[in-house]
Amino acid sequence: MYQNSEMVLVTKLTKALGIKHPVVQGGMHYVGYAEMAAAVSNAGGLGIITGLTQPTPEDLRKEIRKCRNLTDKPFGVNLTMLPAIVPPDYKAYAQIIIDEGIKVIETAGNNPGTFIKMFHDSGAIVIHKCTSIRHALTAQRLGVDFISMDGFECAGHPGEDDVGNFVLLAIAARKLKIPYIASGGIGDGKQLAAVLALGGEGINMGTRFMATKECPIHQNIKQALVDGDERSTTHIFRTMKHTARVYKNKTSLQVQETENQNPGDFSKIAKYVKGALYKESFLETGDTQSSVWSAGIVMGLIEDIPTCKELIEGIVAEAEEIISNKLPTFVSKL
Ligand SMILES: Cc1cc2nc3c(=O)[nH]c(=O)nc-3n(C[C@H](O)[C@H](O)[C@H](O)COP(=O)(O)O)c2cc1C
Repeated sequence: MYQNSEMVLVTKLTKALGIKHPVVQGGMHYVGYAEMAAAVSNAGGLGIITGLTQPTPEDLRKEIRKCRNLTDKPFGVNLTMLPAIVPPDYKAYAQIIIDEGIKVIETAGNNPGTFIKMFHDSGAIVIHKCTSIRHALTAQRLGVDFISMDGFECAGHPGEDDVGNFVLLAIAARKLKIPYIASGGIGDGKQLAAVLALGGEGINMGTRFMATKECPIHQNIKQALVDGDERSTTHIFRTMKHTARVYKNKTSLQVQETENQNPGDFSKIAKYVKGALYKESFLETGDTQSSVWSAGIVMGLIEDIPTCKELIEGIVAEAEEIISNKLPTFVSKL
């Protein structure tokens, strides 16, 4: 692990958000509680509470207040708008985020249009996470402040285009006028340096932050991420055009098989993919096999369970070392 150095990386992200390091912890259902967000923010990154993990908007208010007692640094809230049989009251969650004075909001899922003005009027910065350049261009037109480009490597929903970050970010550099950060498959400082070279202003990580000491999930799940590698994920919901990258286990393989036999029929797999099962694995039993849970191919880079401070400072120090010492050696006069 790289040691902390005296230097910091200053980018549009660190300046706009008032954070020390260009590292964001993305919203994670049943992971992004106050403890997680506060640990990342205290370490100099941007921690994010996952709004819809809280059962009601009032619970979200309590979680935000709890986080405020754990850190005096900036932190954000994620609002994810995904298709649901009974959609949550997004407006009520958004109003609580505003009323509680949150100044950074990560939106994801559907078009964030309805909420951007509301968030901007409250003085908040909106980071919209999306998986394709065309959606990023729409979000740019709608006025979001930063794009979080989520490549095909990512845990959770990578979209249906299957484009990895190496190409996605290079296209973003050509096409986007607003600043962007990279998300998906990131876990070390070489990647942070590469993201900066590809025009990004920082990184967003999900899976890597699950394997940290402060992450409030069961130790068995953290250990599964250490033991897994870049081949330990699989895709479900492909036949519903709502692809999710999840940990490859007994349940996700069962879902895949059932889905292949009944393409597009959610009713056949509903019993395996209930949020309650995944919450139970993460927060109570630590059973890695009995539910479907999001994880990314960055598992291939996860070898330990550090504190958030050790993780972030190690990543930043490695990136600084590459940018300051290695990259200049490639430049020479003829
Ligand atoms: C367990 C888990 C739950 C997640 N839940 C959400 C969510 O509720 N909303 C969201 O926008 N992204 C969610 N994500 C995606 C992350 O915010 C982030 O975009 C993704 O993890 C980046 O890829 P990486 O895991 O390779 O770093 C989740 C990711 C994980 C690992």
